[in-house]
Amino acid sequence: MPHKLIAGNWKMNGLKGAGRELARDLAARARSAAPDCDLLVCPPAQLLIPVGEALADSPVQLGAQDCHAEASGAHTGDIGAPMLADAGCSHVIVGHSERRSDHGESDAQVRAKAAAAAAAGLVPIVCLGETEAERAAGRALAVIESQLRGSLPERGPVGGGTGPAAAGPVVAYEPVWAIGTGKTATAGDIAEAHGHIRGLLREILGRSAGDSVRILYGGSVKPDNAAEILAVEDVDGALVGGASLKADDFWAIGASCP
Ligand code: PGA
Repeated sequence: MPHKLIAGNWKMNGLKGAGRELARDLAARARSAAPDCDLLVCPPAQLLIPVGEALADSPVQLGAQDCHAEASGAHTGDIGAPMLADAGCSHVIVGHSERRSDHGESDAQVRAKAAAAAAAGLVPIVCLGETEAERAAGRALAVIESQLRGSLPERGPVGGGTGPAAAGPVVAYEPVWAIGTGKTATAGDIAEAHGHIRGLLREILGRSAGDSVRILYGGSVKPDNAAEILAVEDVDGALVGGASLKADDFWAIGASCP
């Protein structure tokens, strides 16, 4: 398994000045002493270009928060994966629970977006996770399974070729009830969910491709719980929301990688 991936999801936060400042701060730290992990920031779309410029010549990578399933066309307000690649992105988040709930995105739509991302040479970060009611009903693993089977692009590592997407997709397990709430799943629950996802990835993609997919945990990851979470088996990184908006906190999470 390569280095862990610590991805910052800025969501709908940041004006030009503050976004550029945060990116400059992270880039400067990473240029002088990068932690032992891969770092990625996913700002809102209008900041992709200035943040990309601020990250230039640093090991911090640039990602987006969503893409359309079509490459271009009459889709007002949407953005195509080739546009994101053109803006300097290496990754794009698809199927975040906020997209699924705010925009009613289905597994099939998420899968089409992931496939479009890979076709544009981007690594899709495919998000899934159960709600509190689903966990309370004992259905967490079943929900995870059906979302994974429905959202993952159909065959094998989706990338092919030599671009960043060659390594295949990334999966992010984010229990909905843990996102932005300060509640985190226990290490035992995370191990169970990630182990289940790993088994399914092996079944769907084959053992070696399934083992090479990075599985991120997301949901209230903070500097004070990151080390414990990142030490759990089959946790290959974190998708960080709130704590990615402060350079000190995001950096501390990166520095928590074992
Ligand atoms: P949070 O968000 O870290 O603020 O809980 C995580 C996410 O939604 O990706």
